[in-house]
Amino acid sequence: MHFAFISFLLLAGQALSLSIDVGGSVGTIDATQFLNVSDTYLLTDCQTQCSNANAQISTCTTNDSCLCASNTVTAITSCEQCMFDDLIAKFTTSADPRAGSTAALTAYATACSSAGFTVPSSLVTLSIPSNWDGPLGVSLSTASTVVIVAITAALGTGSLLLLSNL
Ligand SMILES: *[C@@H]1O[C@H](CO)[C@@H](O)[C@H](O)[C@H]1NC(C)=O
Ligand SMILES: *[C@@H]1O[C@H](CO)[C@@H](O)[C@H](O)[C@H]1NC(C)=O
Repeated sequence: MHFAFISFLLLAGQALSLSIDVGGSVGTIDATQFLNVSDTYLLTDCQTQCSNANAQISTCTTNDSCLCASNTVTAITSCEQCMFDDLIAKFTTSADPRAGSTAALTAYATACSSAGFTVPSSLVTLSIPSNWDGPLGVSLSTASTVVIVAITAALGTGSLLLLSNL
């Protein structure tokens, strides 16, 4: 009985690469599922960045050192940044806590840390789109409010889902 259970744990440990606790509707996933967001239009819009990131993830297979290497993490963040920009550009949010989310990236970095690899937080930080210039004729304060609301919504979904999962 015990032996079977331990074997199962060992097998499960081998099958999973990183164990990333995204939380919410997604739960704990491995690296190959990290960018598989439910809003497929995001993946279409961000094909260049996300295909590159997914290619790097599949090349790494279950090698955590490779999955947590700065070039891999940078590629993943670039895909997340593109989804984040896309959500803001479309004034929408995603129900998927992995989509354009700093919280999801932080969960990825935490998984790396648990596996013994430090990922600098600067590599998993999303920034406000550089091309943001706000709607024409809208005052600065309104434009900043829109940005803040969009960011809060994008970041909030992940955190709220995490909280509601506790
Ligand atoms: C990606 O997600 C879809 C459903 O959301 C699932 O059918 C598919 O197996 C997933 N792919 C991977 C690689 O996890
Ligand atoms: C794991 O990845 C690291 C970094 O990319 C590489 O140096 C190492 O050789 C890989 N290990 C295996 C067993 O493939």
